[in-house]
Amino acid sequence: MEKKIILGIETSCDDTSVCLLSFTKNGPHPESEALFHESFSAEKILAKWGGVVPEIAARNHLFKLSPLIERAFNETKLKVSDIDLIGVTTHPGLLGPLLTGLHAAKTLSMLYELPIFGVNHLFAHLEAIHLSEKISYPYLGLLVSGGHTSFFLVRAPDNFEVLGSTIDDAAGEAFDKGGKLMGLNYPAGREIDELAKKGDKFRFPFPIGLENDPRPCFSFSGLKTSLRVFLENNPHIRPSSVYTQDFLDLCASYQWAIVKALSKKTHSAFKLLGKKIPLVVGGGVAANSSLRAEFIKEFSPVHFVQPKYCTDNGAMVAHYAALMMDHASPFPESLKLDAAARFINKKDFLSHE
Ligand code: KG4
Ligand code: ZN
Repeated sequence: MEKKIILGIETSCDDTSVCLLSFTKNGPHPESEALFHESFSAEKILAKWGGVVPEIAARNHLFKLSPLIERAFNETKLKVSDIDLIGVTTHPGLLGPLLTGLHAAKTLSMLYELPIFGVNHLFAHLEAIHLSEKISYPYLGLLVSGGHTSFFLVRAPDNFEVLGSTIDDAAGEAFDKGGKLMGLNYPAGREIDELAKKGDKFRFPFPIGLENDPRPCFSFSGLKTSLRVFLENNPHIRPSSVYTQDFLDLCASYQWAIVKALSKKTHSAFKLLGKKIPLVVGGGVAANSSLRAEFIKEFSPVHFVQPKYCTDNGAMVAHYAALMMDHASPFPESLKLDAAARFINKKDFLSHE
């Protein structure tokens, strides 16, 4: 039961996040503890642009990453030479932001001859469940984030099978783009969640994409269009310093259409599987309170990644790298690792094929 120290670096989108994780292999259920875990969110900087601008996000990572790594070592009193492995998100994500994290990892790898594991961001989101709970494999994973909305049959940390995905926008995008139409700041998911608590979710019915399609896949672009038409027809419903009941009801109703689609399609995924296995929900949108309440009602038992590990974070990256430690690239092969914007990567499915 040897203890390993893993440095996790996450820069795939707008959050710069660093974690020093202690990881002890202990049979099928390893023990992990975050010794340092902090993030810098560029949300406020990006809010004025109404979304993520890849070049600005990459520049923010450049400013924030080194000081965060330095603090991680100062606060834990660990030295870089104490690290056994670096985990860094290499795909999928925005290329510029991914490359800033990868180059920081390569610099440390070069100076201290450390191995690197290039982490699949989506797999790390779901496997983050094991940072707080012990779930047996296989499980059905629903990943709901700002960039992706997909079902996976997860047989092992290195054995993910895609069962279905969104054919257009991701659920988080539906929150963020819908929020923008309503006049809220980017990213709007958390704010809509809060405002919806005071609204009536049945007041304004919104459509559920691919409702009659039996496949476990999603479509959220029609929902966005119907919100635009709704706002054009109801110009008085806008955010103000004091939110009107109409606006709160709109937030609740719009959110409910997203939650209902996620719940309905999770039933479709179980139907496709034809068996009951644990359900794990992860990614930024998994922090949503209405989603959690609905899923507890519909799918009990359901396992949610802890809110602090739902939005992009370095702990999930360090943890996933720890699980995949035996497949890490030792120095100097580590320097050949590359980043990829897209998800489809043959290597991700090695043990499955
Ligand atoms: O996983 P994440 O941090 O980044 C991606 O990998 O995309 O997810 C970010 C997304 C954003 O769209 C944000 O609006 C959404 O997660 N989000 C929420 C909540 N908190 C974050 N959506 C709904 N309710 C929330 N409480
Ligand atoms: Zn993410």
